[in-house]
Amino acid sequence: MKLLVTGAEGQVGAELIRCGQKLGLQMIAASRNRLDITNKSSVAAFIAHHGPDIVINGAAYTAVDKAEDDHVCAGAINSQGPAHLATACSAQNIPLLHISTDYIFDGQSAAPYSEDDKPNPQGVYGKTKLAGDEAVARTIEQHIILRVAWVFDAHGHNFVRTMLRLAEERDELRVVADQFGGPTWAGDIGATLLAIAQRYGKGEAMPWGTYHYSGIPAVSWYEFAQAIFGEAVKLGMLSRSPKVIGIASAEYPTPAQRPQNSVLNCQKIQQQLGISQPDWRTGLITTLQEWQKQ
Ligand SMILES: NC(=O)c1ccc[n+]([C@@H]2O[C@H](COP(=O)([O-])OP(=O)(O)OC[C@H]3O[C@@H](n4cnc5c(N)ncnc54)[C@H](OP(=O)(O)O)[C@@H]3O)[C@@H](O)[C@H]2O)c1
Repeated sequence: MKLLVTGAEGQVGAELIRCGQKLGLQMIAASRNRLDITNKSSVAAFIAHHGPDIVINGAAYTAVDKAEDDHVCAGAINSQGPAHLATACSAQNIPLLHISTDYIFDGQSAAPYSEDDKPNPQGVYGKTKLAGDEAVARTIEQHIILRVAWVFDAHGHNFVRTMLRLAEERDELRVVADQFGGPTWAGDIGATLLAIAQRYGKGEAMPWGTYHYSGIPAVSWYEFAQAIFGEAVKLGMLSRSPKVIGIASAEYPTPAQRPQNSVLNCQKIQQQLGISQPDWRTGLITTLQEWQKQ
């Protein structure tokens, strides 16, 4: 089976290429310099030229705070790019697997968000991602939108990397303790998307649509930071854990407002595709071990 991955040098994109190659799949790594998803005619020509069996969109504008002052660019990448991919895939009659985010919700619900809950994004990033999801859903029937959360990997910029850098610089860190979510290792997202692609490749009936997928257990950023330092000390990457002080979001103002509770209810993917939520603590250890090797 031939799979085309856009944004192939991002956290999820790189894991998709790595895992797909390990599985013996033919992977076309379309990094940004090979394919700019904001260019409609390039997208159509690239897909027609390579003739993949399926396209996975790993490309996105993910700088949540920067997006607040960069509406045009964020919209082009997160909203129009997926629309171009959906149009091109539909023209070739091939499915599009697209990735979305927990930040399309406002975070005011006390319960985990299910796929039927009403989106209400608070920032430009979430708004542009939601517009991209809507474009995919209305343009191409054969689609999966996988909404993920709090992504980390050994490859790329993320909370784990930031915490480890700060731990080397400071004895004490203040970390937001009133925002909750499900950290998700990019390797688990890659494996899930490839499992879905392989299921399609075998000719199985596909329950197209939107699915939530994130790691367990749900935690606050403060608890996530403590887990990162705990594992890093065990692996000898840090000589000691910095003191972590939990603070309220109001004490750490950011340009983009984040959802307070963006925990995702992932029952649908379990029921319809047999895919369980991964324990992010396993992915965290793998991530730290990969860093040690680098
Ligand atoms: N990161 C998170 O915490 C998080 C949380 C929830 C959901 N998600 C979603 O998960 C997906 C994957 O995120 P990620 O963390 O892997 O993102 P990432 O590491 O930021 O990777 C995104 C990739 O897209 C590329 N890209 C940007 N503009 C492009 C364009 N016009 N054409 C083609 N490629 C372009 C980027 O290239 P450059 O680096 O050169 O710009 C980068 O390689 C995204 O849909 C994101 O919205 C992420």
